[in-house]
Amino acid sequence: MGETIMTPKTALVTGAARGIGLATTRLFVEGGRRVAMIDRDEEALREAAAHLGDAVLPVVCDVSRPEDVTRMASSVRDGLGRVDALVNNAGVADFGPIAETDFARWRRVMETNLDAVFLVSQELLADLCATRGAIVNIASISGLRASTLRVAYGTSKAAVIHLTKQQAVELGEHGIRANCVAPGPVDTKLALAVHSPQIRAAYHDAMPLNRYGTEAEIAEVIVFLCSDRASYVTGQVVAADGGFEATGIGLPALRG
Ligand SMILES: NC(=O)c1ccc[n+]([C@@H]2O[C@H](COP(=O)([O-])OP(=O)(O)OC[C@H]3O[C@@H](n4cnc5c(N)ncnc54)[C@H](O)[C@@H]3O)[C@@H](O)[C@H]2O)c1
Repeated sequence: MGETIMTPKTALVTGAARGIGLATTRLFVEGGRRVAMIDRDEEALREAAAHLGDAVLPVVCDVSRPEDVTRMASSVRDGLGRVDALVNNAGVADFGPIAETDFARWRRVMETNLDAVFLVSQELLADLCATRGAIVNIASISGLRASTLRVAYGTSKAAVIHLTKQQAVELGEHGIRANCVAPGPVDTKLALAVHSPQIRAAYHDAMPLNRYGTEAEIAEVIVFLCSDRASYVTGQVVAADGGFEATGIGLPALRG
């Protein structure tokens, strides 16, 4: 047998200062893990981490920047000693018509939603090999079905779904599992910025559960996929979406 690592299990969560990333951090901490909280919003990160005490290691980092990611990984190694789970959650939403999406806007979405998932996973590859760890990438229902205004956002999330499968297929022999969670709408700062009243009404109509999800409901799925309870699950996309992906047209009319 190889060298046994004696330190407690850890997780690294990007975009951990608020929303789904913060809820995921809290759930990991409740389960006894130490968590590296990564975010580029320094003020929000410090404030969120202050409530979680010694269980967390906040590291300010823009995950779309390769030099930042290298520096961040080294701080995490120094602070936590091991990485058992990586949750690539940091994301930005920018909804707009194709005709109004110039290259700068496209890149702004891609650099965080797609490039950063690649960058952070590459940087932590050896760490995850050492623990036979788990990767969970956060995509979106927008990566599973196309919709208007999401040329950059939806395409970035569809690419994350495929990147997850690439990781699962290639890294399985190292014992690394890679899965994807595709949330439906959740009332976070991100959603509040892009979901107009019309979009909100349309979402309600299209979802069998007829409501937005909560950050905690998404966190449950993420933490499960990172845990040993999911030890034979890899390469999967789990839509935590109130049934949105399962529906066709006409749901409101058929509700009766
Ligand atoms: N809220 C929803 O309805 C919804 C639906 C589907 C998917 N998602 C996905 O869930 C993930 C989390 O979203 P949320 O709703 O919690 O958003 P949020 O805006 O509340 O939180 C995102 C966090 O990521 C951080 N962040 C963004 N870009 C970063 C970067 N380059 N480097 C470091 N930190 C960065 C932000 O500072 C913020 O703290 C995203 O990937 C998002 O696309 C959200």
